[in-house]
Amino acid sequence: MELDKRHIVLGVTGGIAAYKAAELVRELQRAGATVQVVMTRAATHFVTPVTFQALSSRPVFVDQWDERVANNMAHIELSRAADAILIAPASADFIGKLANGLADDLLGTLCVARECPLLVAPAMNRQMWTNPAVQRNAAQLRADGVTLFGPDSGDQACGETGPGRMLEPAAIVEELVAFFAPPLLAGRRVVITAGPTYEPIDPVRGITNRSSGKMGFALARACRHAGAEVQLVAGPTALDTPAGVTRIDVQTAREMCAAVLAACAGHCDLFIAVAAVADWQVTNASARKIKKDEVGTTPELAFAENPDILQTVAALPGAPYCVGFAAESEDLARNGESKRRRKGVPLLVANIGHETFGRDDNELLLIDEQGIKPIGRASKDELARVLVAEIAGRLGKPAAGDTP
Ligand code: CTP
Repeated sequence: MELDKRHIVLGVTGGIAAYKAAELVRELQRAGATVQVVMTRAATHFVTPVTFQALSSRPVFVDQWDERVANNMAHIELSRAADAILIAPASADFIGKLANGLADDLLGTLCVARECPLLVAPAMNRQMWTNPAVQRNAAQLRADGVTLFGPDSGDQACGETGPGRMLEPAAIVEELVAFFAPPLLAGRRVVITAGPTYEPIDPVRGITNRSSGKMGFALARACRHAGAEVQLVAGPTALDTPAGVTRIDVQTAREMCAAVLAACAGHCDLFIAVAAVADWQVTNASARKIKKDEVGTTPELAFAENPDILQTVAALPGAPYCVGFAAESEDLARNGESKRRRKGVPLLVANIGHETFGRDDNELLLIDEQGIKPIGRASKDELARVLVAEIAGRLGKPAAGDTP
C-alpha cells in the first residue's frame, strides 16, 4: 500500500471539520499508515478523544502534562517516530500559532520541536481564510517550508460558499501519497488515453468493448504522484478522476484522436496509450433509432478504419516518448515486438493473459529495444508505480532548454 510503514501524527484542531478527521484516520489506515492522534483542547468540543482512540487503536493526547508519556516528554516522544505531522483540520488560530512558533499546548509544542515534515490542511470559513492576517500566516508557513494541502472551495458549514473548506479526507491522503512519492516525473507533461471508445450505430446503440479504464486511470494517478502535469483523455467509464489530473471525456476514436492531438500540442514529454480504441467506426450510423419494422430485414453495417492514435502521435515532429499497451492472445513476446515496431514506439507494455479487463490486478511484459522484462502480478496501482519508475528511467533527465 502507498503509505505502508508511514507513521503519521495527526493533529486535530478546533473546527467543525474535526468530524472529517475521523474519516481521515480510516483513510490513512486504509492506505497503510499508522496514525497517532493529538488534539487541541478546542478540538475536543467538536469530537471526543474516545472517537479517535477507537479508530486509531492508540491513546489520544491533548494535554502537554499527560503522565502517560515518560518524563513529561510527550512533545518529543510523540513525533520522534513520525514520518510527518499532519494538521487536519488546521484552524485559523492554529495556523497563526504555527506561523509564530508558539508552543503553549501539546500540539503546538510538537510542531515546534519536530524533525519531520509539517503538513497543514486549513479549514475555516471564507471570510477567515481571505482575511489578510490569515493569508499572511499561511504565506509565512509556506516560506518556512511547511506544505499546505488545500483549502478547497465550496459549501461551508456556515451556509456560505467559497474558499477555506478542508479538502476531503480522500484528497488529503492523495496529497500525502504524492508528498512521499519520489518526484520521478517532476515538471513533465504527460498525456494518457484510457478506457474503451464508443462507436455509435444509432442514437441508442453502439459498439464498445469491456475495457474498464482502471489501468489508464491508475497510471494517470501514479504520474501525478510522481510530479507530472497529467491530461487524461478518457472514453466512457464510471471511474472517478484522480486528484490533480485534468480529464477530457470523449466517446469515439476520432474524438479521442482529436483530443489527444490538442493535448499534445504545445509541449508533451510522454504519451501513454492505454485506451482500448475501436479499430473501426460505423459509416452508415443512423441519426434516428433504427426500428425493426422500418428496416424490414437484418440491418447491414458498413465500417471504415479509425485513426491509429498511438501511431499518429509517434509520427509527430518532435514526438513525445510514446508508450503503447497491447493485449495479445498468443505469442506475446513476438507479436508484442512486431506491434512495437509497427507503431514506431520505444516501449510497449503487453498484458499477460487477455482476461485483464475490469480486474484490479494484472501481470505485464515490457518490450523495448533492449528486450523483454516481465513484471509480476500486482494490483494495477502497484503496477502503475513500477511502470512510472521504468518509464522515468528510460526518459532520462530533461534536456537543457526543455520546459520547465
Ligand atoms: N491504439 C491507438 N489507436 C488505435 C488502436 C490502438 O492508439 N486506433 C493503441 C492502443 O491504445 C494501444 C496500442 O495502440 O496502446 C495497441 O492496441 P491494440 O488494440 O493491441 O493494437 P491494434 O493496433 O488495434 O492491433 P490488433 O488489434 O490488430 O492487435
